[in-house]
Amino acid sequence: MKQEALFLPTIVSIKEIRQEIPLVATFRLPKPDGFTHKPGQFLEVSLFGKGEVPISISSPPSYEDILLTIRNSGYVTSFIHKLKEGDKIGIRGPYGNSFPYEEYKGYDVLFVGGGIGLAPLRSLLWEMLYHRDDFGRIILLYGARTPADLLYPWQYEEYERKGVELLLTVDRGDEKWTGNVGVVTTLFDKIKIEPERTVAYVCGPGIMIRFALRDLVEKLGIPAHNCIATLERHMKCGVGKCGHCVIGEKYVCIDGPVFRYPEIKMMERFDDPW
Ligand SMILES: Cc1cc2nc3c(=O)[nH]c(=O)nc-3n(C[C@H](O)[C@H](O)[C@H](O)COP(=O)(O)OP(=O)(O)OC[C@H]3O[C@@H](n4cnc5c(N)ncnc54)[C@H](O)[C@@H]3O)c2cc1C
Ligand code: FES
Repeated sequence: MKQEALFLPTIVSIKEIRQEIPLVATFRLPKPDGFTHKPGQFLEVSLFGKGEVPISISSPPSYEDILLTIRNSGYVTSFIHKLKEGDKIGIRGPYGNSFPYEEYKGYDVLFVGGGIGLAPLRSLLWEMLYHRDDFGRIILLYGARTPADLLYPWQYEEYERKGVELLLTVDRGDEKWTGNVGVVTTLFDKIKIEPERTVAYVCGPGIMIRFALRDLVEKLGIPAHNCIATLERHMKCGVGKCGHCVIGEKYVCIDGPVFRYPEIKMMERFDDPW
């Protein structure tokens, strides 16, 4: 999107709001003129007088609108959740690097998501589904706290129709739940992959990322370079100016938020969002 000034947001009207699960809603926004993005990038989303928050774009680049799936998790997001269709919101970006995926054409793809971490993965998943023949198997391992916390359940059938092997898990089941119970890494025992021809993309709570990356390499045997995660870090500017997001020598906003495992391993306390 054409930027008049670095920190000046473009104001758009919200086209649609879908309440996904309690506290999490997806906001559909029009694309400003010339807007393009890559899966894994984020926007700085703002409300006048309230503040700005980084939010991943959960729609794929080929999609006509911008979709942002936002959890009501604090000050700014609580005001975003009060907005209605037609209300105005500011966006600037897209920022950050993106998931490498062109180089993985022909590979099998393993997505590992936890909680709202499915939102950024969804952008890449759908981009791959739009170009389904470019990739081998697509496996999605996804976990949430309870069945009611599983994001986008209305899309699961469509994923499966498009050839995604979907395995779900919850930390705590309910009387209707007959699936797996346990953290998402417990699903690793249930899949057979060819590690040398598999790329893995991970997003979720920091602690989940830590254990998932370790097990992808040590248990499943995927080369560390092909294990890729997107990190969350508290940000202010989003453009490498304020230093808020720095971990060691890396600026999560411009060097990331997407990193390969060998880089992440070098970062101390990458799973602490502060
Ligand atoms: C690259 C990137 C992509 C992201 N993508 C998404 C996305 O797609 N969807 C999404 O919902 N979120 C996403 N996030 C997270 C989102 O940016 C944060 O949830 C948001 O910034 C919270 O802002 P807030 O003002 O609403 O909450 P805040 O008021 O800042 O609070 C956020 C959380 O931090 C806690 N907290 C606040 N202050 C402190 C403190 N001093 N010490 C300890 N804990 C504190 C609060 O209790 C709360 O749990 C992303 C973050 C990054 C960096
Ligand atoms: S958020 Fe300001 S430098 Fe990264």
